[in-house]
Amino acid sequence: MKKKIFSGAQPTGRLHIGNYIGALKNWAQLQYDYDCVFGIVDYHAISVPFSPSEMKQRVLDCAIGFLASGIDPEKSIIMLQSLVPQHTELTWILNSVSPVQDLMRVPTFKEKSAQHKGNINMGLLDYPVLMAADIIIYKADFVPVGDDQVPHIELTREIAREFNKRYGYTFPEPKEILGPRILGLDGQAKMSKTLGNCIYLDETPDEIWKKLAPALTDTRRKRRNDPGEPKDCNIYNCYLKRFCDKEEIRYIEEGCRKASIGCLECKKILFKKIVKELTPVREKILELRQNENYVMDIIYKGSKKARIIAEKTLTEVKEKIGFDYKL
Ligand code: TYM
Repeated sequence: MKKKIFSGAQPTGRLHIGNYIGALKNWAQLQYDYDCVFGIVDYHAISVPFSPSEMKQRVLDCAIGFLASGIDPEKSIIMLQSLVPQHTELTWILNSVSPVQDLMRVPTFKEKSAQHKGNINMGLLDYPVLMAADIIIYKADFVPVGDDQVPHIELTREIAREFNKRYGYTFPEPKEILGPRILGLDGQAKMSKTLGNCIYLDETPDEIWKKLAPALTDTRRKRRNDPGEPKDCNIYNCYLKRFCDKEEIRYIEEGCRKASIGCLECKKILFKKIVKELTPVREKILELRQNENYVMDIIYKGSKKARIIAEKTLTEVKEKIGFDYKL
C-alpha cells in the first residue's frame, strides 16, 4: 500500500515561484509514489481580513495554479476545505487535546497578531489545530511543505500523539518533506504576496525580466569587475540552484568568483531557464482560466472523494471518544 500525503495552500490568489519551488513542484513529483490529497484551505484564509466577493475567484486561481504546476486530478485528490466539513468537526475534537500555551507560541500566531492588532481572533490562534485536522483526517504519513510550515507540523505530531495517548492509537505522526525556502527578489524576506516581492507563475517573460534585472545580488559586486561569492548571493541561493543544471551552476560559480561574468549576464542565463520552465505553466494557467467550469468540476469531484475518506476517520474518532450514535 502506498504511503499517504496531505498538503495544502491558502487561496490567496495567484501563486508565485515560492509556492511553486517550495511546494507545488514537489507535490507534482510525489504524486507518482504516494496517495496524495491537496487542499485549498479556504477556512484558514478567513482568519485575516478578506473580501467575500473575491473568495471564489481566489479558490479558482489556486486550483488553476495546482493544475498548471502538474497536479494530475486523475492521480491526486484536489479538494476544497470548506466542502469537506469533517475537517472543521475534527478540529473541535482536537481542540480539546491542544494546549493553548503551545498555540500561543506558534511563530505565525505571533506574526499575524502583530500584523492585525485590531483583529486577533480565535481563528488565528486555532489555525494550527485546523491544519492538524487537515493532515491527520487523511492519516497522512508525510506533508510536503516549505520550511515556514515546520512549527505547524511539529504541533500536528504533538496533537496526534496526545489524541492517541488519551483515546488509543488512531493517527500516524506525520513528517514534513521540506522544500527549499525562496526569498523574495529583495533578498530580505520569504517571497510572499503580502510583501509584494514575488514573481508570479502567470507573469510574461517581459514582466519577469523587469523584476529580475534589478534584483539584489552579492553586495560585494558593486562594479562589473568586482569578484563575488555566490553563497552570499540571493539569486544564486534561491533561484539559480533551482532552475539551472549542474554545469551552468559551476560555470556561474567560477565566473562570479573570478569576475569573468557580471551579475547581469548571470541573470540572463537564469532568466532563460525560468522562462523555459514557467512558460508551459503560464500557458496552462491562461488555458484553464478560459475553462473555469472544468476547474470547479475538479474541485467538486475531489472534495466528494475527500469527504468519503474524512468521514471514515471522523466516525472512528467519534467512536474512540464514546460518541457512538447511529442517526
Ligand atoms: P501557504 O498558502 O502560505 O503556502 C503554500 C505552500 O507554499 C510554501 N511557500 C513557500 N515555500 C518556499 N518559499 C516561499 N517563499 C514560500 N511561500 C510559500 C509553503 O511553505 C506551503 O507549503 N498553513 C499553510 C496551508 C495549510 C497546510 C495545511 C499546509 C493549511 N493546512 C496542511 C500543509 C498541510 C499555508 O499557509 O501555506
